Amino acid sequence: MKKIAFIGAGNMNGAIISGLVQSGFEPENIMVSNPSAPKREALQAAHGIQQTPDNMEAAAFADVIVLGVKPHFIADVCRQFGKSIDISAKCFISVAAGCTIKQIEQALNHPCTVIRTMPNTPSQLGVGVTGIYANSHINDEEKAFTSKLMESVGIIKWLDSEEQIDHIIAVSGSGPAYFFLFMEAMEKQAKAYGFSEQDSRELVQQTALGAAKMVVENKLSIRKLRENVCSKGGTTQAAISAFSEGGLEQLVTKAMNTALARAKEMAQNAQ
Ligand SMILES: NC(=O)c1ccc[n+]([C@@H]2O[C@H](COP(=O)([O-])OP(=O)(O)OC[C@H]3O[C@@H](n4cnc5c(N)ncnc54)[C@H](OP(=O)(O)O)[C@@H]3O)[C@@H](O)[C@H]2O)c1
Repeated sequence: MKKIAFIGAGNMNGAIISGLVQSGFEPENIMVSNPSAPKREALQAAHGIQQTPDNMEAAAFADVIVLGVKPHFIADVCRQFGKSIDISAKCFISVAAGCTIKQIEQALNHPCTVIRTMPNTPSQLGVGVTGIYANSHINDEEKAFTSKLMESVGIIKWLDSEEQIDHIIAVSGSGPAYFFLFMEAMEKQAKAYGFSEQDSRELVQQTALGAAKMVVENKLSIRKLRENVCSKGGTTQAAISAFSEGGLEQLVTKAMNTALARAKEMAQNAQ
């Protein structure tokens, strides 16, 4: 059984630890490190895992090291590993946004497996999407383990190139906020019709949940599902026409391409 270290006891690592333990991974084989005590102690109390303030202790304990600190700390943390412990047989999995495999390899200063993942916020509820790309050192066992790890917080997509991480950011990484924005606008209009704050929210959230469930549980295309609720000359068709006339589809394309360009720019600046 592999041992796993989580560097950082924040939201994302906390979500993965929770998913992993719930999926049957032995807590005694997990150690989390975090500078301040309350977050690592809370994870220990909730899941029975081991904890330490010392990143080196956690990394020395483990075969697989999950880097879950903010992107600007990743290089420093990895540099320390490269200098302080034998990392030749260790596998590094980063969840940090905008931090490239090359940067991590350079900081580790040793040829080892580096896997870059791009989870999204709903991973915290176990319904996330994670894009994954690895350097050429990865073996089948590490691939299977990484799949299991990230599947504990949602679905996964292995990618053919690191560039596709930027595409994942534009679709599922930033995606939850696109839906929030749409729901926010609908909620605002519901309030304008006179519904209370609570009713407006419930009307919108249940509609979004119902629509998402219909997509998930149906074999029909999303387009067909939409057409099915648009009877000719009806109210929904009238609303959809208003969206089309306002250029909604082009706007979505533009927004996603803008997110993509920004992701590329951030990766470039970080070189
Ligand atoms: N949250 C998401 O939905 C999401 C989605 C995609 C990717 N990510 C990525 O996940 C990573 C973590 O994000 P997060 O939202 O989980 O952030 P977070 O909640 O702020 O967690 C980061 C944790 O790292 C700890 N930390 C800081 N410096 C450290 C060090 N030198 N060694 C060990 N631990 C250290 C912090 O401890 P203190 O608070 O005690 O300083 C904090 O507990 C980021 O790189 C982010 O890009 C997050």
